[in-house]
Amino acid sequence: MSRIFSGIQPSGELHIGNYLGAVKNWVQLQHTHDGALFCVVDYHAITGNYDPAVLRARRWEMAKSLFAAGIDPTRAHVFLQSDVPEHTELSWIFTTLTPLGDLERQTQFKDKSSKVESIPAGLLMYPVLQSADILLYRADAVPVGEDQIQHLELARDTARKWNARFGEGYFPEPKPLLTPTRRILGLDGQSKMSKSLGNTVGLLETDDEIWAKLRPAVTDPQRVRKTDAGRPDVCNVYQLHKAFSDTETQANVVQQCTTAGWGCMDCKKVLLGNIVEELTPIRHRAAMLDAEPARILDALADGGRAARAIAQETMREVRERMGLDAVHPPRA
Ligand code: TRP
Repeated sequence: MSRIFSGIQPSGELHIGNYLGAVKNWVQLQHTHDGALFCVVDYHAITGNYDPAVLRARRWEMAKSLFAAGIDPTRAHVFLQSDVPEHTELSWIFTTLTPLGDLERQTQFKDKSSKVESIPAGLLMYPVLQSADILLYRADAVPVGEDQIQHLELARDTARKWNARFGEGYFPEPKPLLTPTRRILGLDGQSKMSKSLGNTVGLLETDDEIWAKLRPAVTDPQRVRKTDAGRPDVCNVYQLHKAFSDTETQANVVQQCTTAGWGCMDCKKVLLGNIVEELTPIRHRAAMLDAEPARILDALADGGRAARAIAQETMREVRERMGLDAVHPPRA
């Protein structure tokens, strides 16, 4: 059976963008794959300027969100990347096999580096660390969104190169397991969902807070009056119905929208009900975890222990095959 690994940046509390784009899928996969590994990638989060106190808080919020969203620590291992030092060790090794040009060609690097005056080398090395994350556990299936396909190609190149030099077949070539739901735009109908843009809904927000975001959400711009027929295929709120409402409701939305039966507010109220229904159990679990933070600590400690056991075994074999194992005098 395949081994699943995925990582998520500690951006704080989850929002519906990263929930639908990744974590909801992880919750499903933990039931079909034993011992899946889900890593809060804090070393990836320090490539820009950041405040240590904020990072500390965000790691906690992300871990809590993952458990609240339904990751079950008895089925899957959730851990912090910095709790397993082997990630950075293997990352160094991989830098020696990675052509600079391949890193400079990464779209995410070009994007991010164009926005800063002085480019930290860590930004360039980001996908090398990501390859190490995955290959350290010899994972072969990586649930991600489409934006990570290029990084995974690099991980496969690295696995192939290392194998060719040091041990045929040792590292599997990891394949993306693409998230079933297509990426949904933010509620502004313009940019991708992001907490800093305020165009998304936090997983732990109250009903009132959700409605305050949803009420002004952009719909079909050509539908000006309630009596105008709308076009679901260009409406972002319809995309959200596809993620949160059952197929019967989705069909009804199309019917009501295209015949101007419902106004956009009616449509959004139905959506609100379905979002609240999905998020309510998540909020309850989060409240339970707030009351018992030791559960989070214990689960992360267990996850870290399980991850280190695999990581240490991989590094033992990697060092041995690379001539980096315990030194001894030359044999006669
Ligand atoms: N780069 C990923 C993102 O921004 C996060 C990540 C880091 C990751 N390491 C990983 C994803 C390993 C999958 C596997 O979303």
